[in-house]
Amino acid sequence: MTFDFSGKVVLVTGAAAGLGFACAQAFVTAGARVVITDISQAALDKAVAELQGEGGEVLGLLNDASKSADVNALLDKIVERYGRLDIAVNNAGTSSPLSDFHEVAESEFDRVLAVNLKGVWLCMQAEIRQMLKQGGGCIVNMASATSRNTYPGAAPYVTSKFAVAGLTRTVAVDYAERNIRINAICPGNVATPLVLSMVEDLSVLSAKHAMKRLGTPAEVANGVLYLASDLSSFSTGSLLEVDGGWNAI
Ligand SMILES: NC(=O)c1ccc[n+]([C@@H]2O[C@H](COP(=O)([O-])OP(=O)(O)OC[C@H]3O[C@@H](n4cnc5c(N)ncnc54)[C@H](O)[C@@H]3O)[C@@H](O)[C@H]2O)c1
Repeated sequence: MTFDFSGKVVLVTGAAAGLGFACAQAFVTAGARVVITDISQAALDKAVAELQGEGGEVLGLLNDASKSADVNALLDKIVERYGRLDIAVNNAGTSSPLSDFHEVAESEFDRVLAVNLKGVWLCMQAEIRQMLKQGGGCIVNMASATSRNTYPGAAPYVTSKFAVAGLTRTVAVDYAERNIRINAICPGNVATPLVLSMVEDLSVLSAKHAMKRLGTPAEVANGVLYLASDLSSFSTGSLLEVDGGWNAI
């Protein structure tokens, strides 16, 4: 089964690695013009080269999703280059070492929330300003299975992902009559650099899923492309679980 995003302008934040890269790759395969961002220039260059090697029209921009000046400049650059932004995937995220809640430093709370929550907030604001000007658009936020469920010792991360779910649903309702659809995807665990930095024993993670395995980046990207496509035209404010049954247990 294939998607067709020919001619569409797509932004994926934090796309030099992991799930963001997989989403960018899937959009390239589906014919979109794809803008990817990241905070690492070296990783970004490598990702752009790989995607261009697959025949994609790809623009890589160094950008910190948690900084409003960066995010606003990003939208200016996209509009300058392509004249519009059809689809945005707010994927950039960070993790936190597992720790007892009472030991979590205030600075760690600030760091995680700045990227995972404020970053999505700032990106959505800038994207929606542009989408209103052009008469519509579609946003997919990267939430998590831990947007509805808990994970021991991961209070900053889980807090940020519950908040992304609430933000997605609230803002989706606000713009539902203005031709902007906003949904979130809630992946289970995939062995990306983020997950490998948090957990050593992947079998513990596998056991959390009803399917008793981790997901693949492509399985998450499929869900993102569905939410970004007209196949989901009656969905807004939804949280799509792509989690091997984690939240159904
Ligand atoms: N991997 C999983 O199992 C999983 C599950 C559920 C949700 N998620 C979410 O998916 C998203 C991607 O996660 P991943 O596992 O691919 O992580 P990753 O660490 O493998 O990749 C994240 C990318 O985002 C970039 N990034 C970090 N901070 C940034 C910032 N401020 N601005 C721009 N880019 C930034 C990183 O440099 C990195 O390239 C995150 O929001 C994460 O919370 C991941």
